[in-house]
Formats: sequence, structure tokens, C-alpha cells
Amino acid sequence: MIDAATQVFAVMGNPVSHSLSPVMFNRAFSETGYNGVYVAFQVTAIGDGISAMRSLGIKGASITIPHKVSILDFLDEIDPMAESIGAVNTVISHEGRLKGYNSDCLGAIKALEEITHLEGKQVAIIGAGGAARAIGFGVKSRGAGLTLINRSISKGEILAAALEAEFIPISELRSLPFDMLIQTTSVGMTPHIHQSPVPAALLTPGLLVMDIVYAPLKTRLLKDAIEAGCRTINGLSMFIHQAAFQFELWTGSPAPLAVMKQSLMDSLNPSQKRAS
Ligand code: ATR
Repeated sequence: MIDAATQVFAVMGNPVSHSLSPVMFNRAFSETGYNGVYVAFQVTAIGDGISAMRSLGIKGASITIPHKVSILDFLDEIDPMAESIGAVNTVISHEGRLKGYNSDCLGAIKALEEITHLEGKQVAIIGAGGAARAIGFGVKSRGAGLTLINRSISKGEILAAALEAEFIPISELRSLPFDMLIQTTSVGMTPHIHQSPVPAALLTPGLLVMDIVYAPLKTRLLKDAIEAGCRTINGLSMFIHQAAFQFELWTGSPAPLAVMKQSLMDSLNPSQKRAS
């Protein structure tokens, strides 16, 4: 029941039409009896989105592509871990004072550590945006070696230097001599479901491939990886773990993980369910 006391939450990004967050968080609010509602806003200028949070009294927001780095300039306070990462994907309003956090890092590490350990492993990350920063920071903090792979050389080199990682321009990628490959760009996301950032021929058995895109659940990259005999982690795992952090931050209550996962599975279309 929405009433005058209902707290409002939102995802802000561009695009957001694919987002499963509203269904998931609204199910979680209703399951736990929290008086909240969660909506999706397509936002082109994140400064305007943050102004709207202030003027409308929006309690919390998830921040997604392409705003995770540029949002830093508009907040009142930044959690130290998010500050070190240089990216924010979670905002909470404490009586009008907006504080930013990064739940991508914790969510990705949890997703990987459900399958394997990171210490001493060689990890490659595709992309150099906010998600790549967060996951790269987490991977390094667990004692893994890191290589960044990116389309634009300048952006890739800057992030690689910040993370003390190697860098390979994607156009020069000839092999993938790593234990894990983590895909953090929007390539392959609905509606461009036939695109992959990596030629299928480079994927070899023994490589663990994680894609943070969750719409579709099985991206072109993950399909190619399965065909090549790789182990895979889809975008749902990291997504649920980082969302659980957001729920707990916003409501102060434990996240109903099973319900959140079920609501995501229910939202996915039947062909994706068969493919999972
Ligand atoms: P986020 O902060 O959510 O990670 P972002 O900052 O927009 O998002 O970063 C997007 C990443 O996806 C970038 O590394 C971008 O590569 P460039 O640095 O070359 O722009 C990458 N990316 C986006 N579209 C891409 C495409 N079609 N091919 C290859 N990389 C792409």
C-alpha cells in the first residue's frame, strides 16, 4: 500500500528500460513489510538526477551506466571504499544529506568467491568504466594479478595505472592467458544480444568467464564460453549480492535474498530461463 509515509527509491541510468531492479526491490519491500517503492528513471545528466533526489526527498538510488564516476561530483559524502575505487553505484539520503557507496565491488567478489578463490590468480577485466574500477579494486585487494582490456587506449591506460594493472587494447587481443575473464561493458546487453567484445576463438577451457550483463542472462560471450568448455558466472549473481547490500543500507533490515532471486527469475522471459 502506497501512502503519505512511503519512502521512494530509484535506479538512475541511461539506458534503464531493461532494469529488473524495480521488480526485485518492490518484491523485497513487500516481503519484509517495508513501506517503500522503487522506480526507474532514465537520466541523461546525473547532476539533474541528484537535484531531483534532494528536491523530492527520494530516500535512495542505484546508479548505473554511464554515471558511476561522474556522480562523485554531486554528492555530500562518499564512503571511503567508494572513494578509493573512484566510483559510486549506491546513494542514500540521510535527512537530505546524500552519501555514496559502491556495492559493485562486494557483489562481484562474492559472486566469484562462491566458485573459486582469487589469491594468486591471473584475472582479466574487459572495460574501463565504473564497474571495471570497482571489480578491479576488489580483485587486487584479494591478491590476484590484474590485466585490463579496453577499446579506448587512453581510458584503459589511465585505469590500469590507477589499479597497478597491465593493459591490452582490445584491438590487439590475440590470446587470453588468464584464469578468469570478467566482462564489465554494456556490449551484449539487450537489444544488442548478438554482440560479444571477445572473438569466440580466443576462449579456451580452463578460463572462468563472468559477464556482469544480466539482460539477457546468457550473453553471446557466455554462450561462446560454454561452447568452448569454460566455466561461467552470469550477471545475476553479482547483481543479487550488490542489491542485497543496497537493501540493507536503505532499510536497516536483512535482505530477503531468496525472494529477490526468485523475482529476477520470474522477470526473465521463458527462453532465457531455458538457457540458464
Ligand atoms: P560503467 O561506469 O557502468 O562501467 P561506463 O563508464 O560507460 O560504464 O564504461 C563503459 C565501458 O564499456 C567502457 O570501458 C567502454 O569502452 P571505451 O572506454 O572504449 O568507451 C566500454 N564499451 C562500451 N561500449 C563498447 C563497445 N561497443 N565496444 C567495446 N567497449 C565498449
